[in-house]
Amino acid sequence: MNYETPLFFQVMQYAVRAERDVIDMVSGNPDWEPPAALREALHEYADLESDRFQYPPSEGLRELREGIAARRGVDEGQVVVTNGAGEANYLAMARALERESGSEVLLTDPVYPYYPGKTSMLGGSQRFVPVGEDGQLEPEAVRAATSEETAAIVVNTPNNPTGAVYPAETMRELGEIAEAYDAILVSDEVYDHYDLSGEFSSALEVDSGNRIVTNAFSKSLAITGFRVGYAIFPEELVADAKSRHMLVNVAGSRPAQYAVSRALHETGPEYYETNRELLRERVDTFTAALEDAGAEYTRPDGAFYVMARFEDFPGTLENTERLIDGAGVAGMPGEAFGSAREEWLRFALVTPRLEEAADRLVAYFG
Ligand SMILES: Cc1ncc(COP(=O)(O)O)c(C=O)c1O
Repeated sequence: MNYETPLFFQVMQYAVRAERDVIDMVSGNPDWEPPAALREALHEYADLESDRFQYPPSEGLRELREGIAARRGVDEGQVVVTNGAGEANYLAMARALERESGSEVLLTDPVYPYYPGKTSMLGGSQRFVPVGEDGQLEPEAVRAATSEETAAIVVNTPNNPTGAVYPAETMRELGEIAEAYDAILVSDEVYDHYDLSGEFSSALEVDSGNRIVTNAFSKSLAITGFRVGYAIFPEELVADAKSRHMLVNVAGSRPAQYAVSRALHETGPEYYETNRELLRERVDTFTAALEDAGAEYTRPDGAFYVMARFEDFPGTLENTERLIDGAGVAGMPGEAFGSAREEWLRFALVTPRLEEAADRLVAYFG
């Protein structure tokens, strides 16, 4: 197995070594505050009895699993608390591939780069379905690419990197296709709280024994460093996923799960709305600057990324490095996300220095 270092790390390392000040628009770390209840719970935790410093249940703290199950309208037994959406996706894809109902994983192009990496690591092969220019996934294109070899159809909505949010009809049809070919629909919904369009539709609304929903608190509570996520499995698939989770991790972090559970109970909708509002403003500021710089760009319906295409400046690693040195702005090369957006660069809108970054791009390209 040849493990490639994700391009993400290469770009970050280059930016750190640069001889000038660089604004990071690479990583997807929210720069806003987590909910107040999360900090309070963490403080409290330090003074709890030492038995709370020992292993939690492998599948996750009961109160957290109950909280997730109640919010998502599923049975608590279907929920596995994971080390972020990253592990949730790994468990879901592993579960799909080990059913021996095919060895191919259907992915979109552009794609979140960790999906093809996980597919190879799990011994599967990839088949890519290009999305439309607007980032939407045509169920008919998915159907045409699906075969008896398809083990999983992995989608992400709201989408990184395109910003597309798939409508209910798309999710319903994807569920039908998965059932027809006895494949598993894996729906990564880690950006669900950053739906700016009001059109988001969870795969949980698709009533099927062939879908697994993955999610995390990394983005929604601005805590990518806590590593708390979850996967919701159909009843028939959950037991083996719990075993794999236990064999790989023993369990997840107990203080992190405790704090998340408290935050989940004590945080009202205004927390999420405030962050969405901030993102909306940033989308406006950044896309206005791209307009001034003469770029083509996407206006995201969700998640926190904008893709831009500058004339004669394809989204290669070399050009990303050129932009770091020349403009002091670090983005992600489009070629990191498959072949469909090789001409593009992706910028994450999670920096307080967004306006400065926008000005730098206008000065460089304008
Ligand atoms: C689409 C997608 N899925 C999963 C993840 C990883 O989430 P976590 O940090 O919860 O593992 C990310 C992180 O950027 C992501 O963009």
